[in-house]
Amino acid sequence: MSRGPEIIRAVADMQAWSRGHREAGRRIGLVPTMGNLHEGHLSLARMAMDECDRVVVSLFVNPTQFGPGEDYDSYPRTWDEDLARLRELGVHYVFAPTVEEIYPEDDRTRVLVNWGQDVLCGATRPGHFDGVTTVVAKLFNAILPDLAFFGQKDAQQALIIRRMVRTLAFPLILRLGETVREVDGLAKSSRNGYLSEEDRAKARCLNQALEAAGAALESGERDPAAVEAAGREALEGLAPEYFSVLDPDTLGAPARLEEGLVLIACAVPLGAARLIDNHVYRINGNRVEKALLF
Ligand code: PAJ
Repeated sequence: MSRGPEIIRAVADMQAWSRGHREAGRRIGLVPTMGNLHEGHLSLARMAMDECDRVVVSLFVNPTQFGPGEDYDSYPRTWDEDLARLRELGVHYVFAPTVEEIYPEDDRTRVLVNWGQDVLCGATRPGHFDGVTTVVAKLFNAILPDLAFFGQKDAQQALIIRRMVRTLAFPLILRLGETVREVDGLAKSSRNGYLSEEDRAKARCLNQALEAAGAALESGERDPAAVEAAGREALEGLAPEYFSVLDPDTLGAPARLEEGLVLIACAVPLGAARLIDNHVYRINGNRVEKALLF
């Protein structure tokens, strides 16, 4: 029976552990999370356990990525359950700093990626991705991972973090995990808990609409507007904040879909929740298949 993960609160302590492992030639994997762990997070932790000698899962509800009026205060915090799950997986460390540890009073530094900020979730959540890149950079420097694992569920986040890693030359490799879904196709999310029973039933439309858009692609449609329309129609009356067909390399809207990756992404406000989901396809001649962004 494992003792469970070592819990670390201070950046300096985390760095000391990590340096020791690196000097001993061990590969360190990081899975950043805001806690309230579900099968999506756990699938990333399993990937990390498979590929790394030591795995750190960070649990930190990051205040700087929540806008005014968003759910920072009510975001579900489920420490005991999270820890029990990580113990079961054999995860070695939980990095769970306080807000003051990550954002000391004299902190005046932010990491801004000036790319991909004005579309999709960036359009309605100003500053959100600046909060994400800032905290992820701090986590990278605290944990010094060789590999860091993110979910394709948050495709825009993953693409923006990839930009940051490239341009700031973080010496690590990013890995992406597939979106884990409920039986009816709804992508697992901590925010699904905000849904009423009635809205939970409607929520499966997001994945169905993405499937419908994908089916249009598979049947040979290459006009992004037509692919988008096929998806919107399958939303069964739900009003999306966006339902977009984009080129993931630019996060721009292509005039026509060509060879390579296509990102179809949507956000739908539903009761107290705002759900996001996406599918990624690779177009290869007449063949269209589901793919990972990287
Ligand atoms: P959080 O929403 O807790 O997600 C942590 C990681 O789990 C992210 O990389 C996210 O993409 C992934 N994830 C969430 N739902 C998933 C699902 N259904 N299938 C697969 N992976 C899934 O994303 C964040 O936290 C924060 O922005 C963070 C990166 C930790 C920075 O604060």
